[in-house]
Amino acid sequence: MHVMGFSIRIKINQATRDGFTMKDIETPQDVHQLISEFYQHIRDDAVLGPIFDEVAEVDWPNHLPVMFTFWESLLLRTEHYRGNALQPHLNLFQKIPFEPAFMSQWLSIFKSTVDELFAGEVAERAKHFAEGIAHNLDRQITRRVPLMTEGVELEKRTGRVERQR
Ligand code: HEM
Repeated sequence: MHVMGFSIRIKINQATRDGFTMKDIETPQDVHQLISEFYQHIRDDAVLGPIFDEVAEVDWPNHLPVMFTFWESLLLRTEHYRGNALQPHLNLFQKIPFEPAFMSQWLSIFKSTVDELFAGEVAERAKHFAEGIAHNLDRQITRRVPLMTEGVELEKRTGRVERQR
């Protein structure tokens, strides 16, 4: 657009998909919508649902606000997450053996939830962050948890915990 000789670029944070206008993730409310819907899909998933609800017995009214803070910090910087994102996963996979397929399913649900609701630069960044963190968690868990689950298996078989290596 030209105004009095100046060229003004107007950035519109909207993208079109299949004829529908999709907005980008721009406000804390957008993050809340994304994360609430994501965990609804997770709870509906035949494999991940029972892991969250029955194995971890997640207390959702407490967990969701932590996840809002985590994603707002990453995407909008309107919050400051100070937790330890690794430890709950190490705890969880002491209870059941970790399978890399859990992580790829988590990621695929996350990406499809983003695509269902938003499009744009921040939406792309959200998927990119999720991919990086999922990959990282996968590496950290597979590096540490075999030792722990072996310990648990050993304890079940022998009645005592042995930590070799
Ligand atoms: C196999 C996939 C995953 C499973 C089954 C899983 C499960 C869980 C569970 C059970 C908790 C504890 C919830 C509670 O407070 O009771 C948790 C916490 C959390 N998860 Fe995951 N998660 C997965 C992947 C991811 C990924 C890929 C990310 C990041 C992109 C992530 C980020 C977090 C964060 C930030 C917390 C909160 C840590 C805190 O308490 O500060 N998770 N997860």
